[in-house]
Amino acid sequence: MDQKWWSGETVAVVTGANRGIGLEIVRQLARKGMTVVLTCRNEKNGLAAMKEVGEAGLDNVRFHILDVQSSQSVSDLAKWLKTIFGGFDILINNAAVSGQDMNWEVMNKTGVDLRQLLLSSEGSNETCVYDYESARTCIDINYYGTKRVVKGLQPLLRETFGRPRIVNVTSVYGLVKMMPNPELQKQLSDIDKVSEEFLDSMVSQFLEDVKQNKNLEEKGWPVPFSGYKMSKICINTYTRLLARELSDKVTVNCVHPGYVKTGMTGGTGDLSPSEGAESVVKLALSPPGGPSGNFYIEKEIGGF
Ligand SMILES: NC(=O)c1ccc[n+]([C@@H]2O[C@H](COP(=O)([O-])OP(=O)(O)OC[C@H]3O[C@@H](n4cnc5c(N)ncnc54)[C@H](OP(=O)(O)O)[C@@H]3O)[C@@H](O)[C@H]2O)c1
Repeated sequence: MDQKWWSGETVAVVTGANRGIGLEIVRQLARKGMTVVLTCRNEKNGLAAMKEVGEAGLDNVRFHILDVQSSQSVSDLAKWLKTIFGGFDILINNAAVSGQDMNWEVMNKTGVDLRQLLLSSEGSNETCVYDYESARTCIDINYYGTKRVVKGLQPLLRETFGRPRIVNVTSVYGLVKMMPNPELQKQLSDIDKVSEEFLDSMVSQFLEDVKQNKNLEEKGWPVPFSGYKMSKICINTYTRLLARELSDKVTVNCVHPGYVKTGMTGGTGDLSPSEGAESVVKLALSPPGGPSGNFYIEKEIGGF
């Protein structure tokens, strides 16, 4: 049973919440009785999602635009949160893209399984297109987007209900073992040897190699879904760094929600969006004083 530490005054902000796991996180948190801010980058899609939650009888959800690629957008949201609520309590960084233009029709026809594809060492093929622009955008949304939101909103996190929480939605494809380069793997495994500067410079080098059309496998970068894996490797490590930096103020964890049937997976997966959201919500609602700086695989603590 959850130890109920929250109330209607508790405010949770969810990014990328117009569909998929994000929308389900909003629904589940709102059903718990707290105030939830559904954010997304497109107003029309946001209002459509708001209509859905309204029709489900949830009148404790508010909407605000947030494009995690834009610092201005983050700052507009911060100003609004300050004006309306004075601050907030739970931040869920869920927004992401796969960085691959998937041909689901070919995937379905050939019976290629997304999980098999992610673990194979094939780069671009007829089922997925990969290029510099997609890799750059993927990293800008998934990794830098998370950092932008944390840096812009973290000063508004408040301690009214015990320590506030940040939950980063990540993936098993962000495990350190996904990094083939043994030297980088070693550095990423040692939290005392990494820093945000290290991660940023690793990502710049990766993007430079993609831009110059280098053989990514030979260069020791993860393939395929290279941009996605790089972004999630960075988010996992960033979560550890952030948990350490904010250790006396904020509980920070990251979670792999499982293989979930959403737009990102072309509707394939083991779990429904609602089941996928459960592990994220569980972490967001964990009792005050719970562990920080961990990676969860669904509802269990896993190693990085
Ligand atoms: N599905 C899985 O099996 C699975 C497995 C492991 C991890 N995850 C993680 O779970 C999270 C949710 O994924 P999902 O499966 O629910 O994917 P999804 O259905 O594709 O939803 C992704 C959400 O992110 C939003 N987004 C993308 N770029 C954005 C931006 N610049 N600013 C704000 N929002 C943006 C999308 O908005 P638009 O509608 O505007 O595109 C959408 O709302 C992601 O972090 C993903 O990596 C998913």
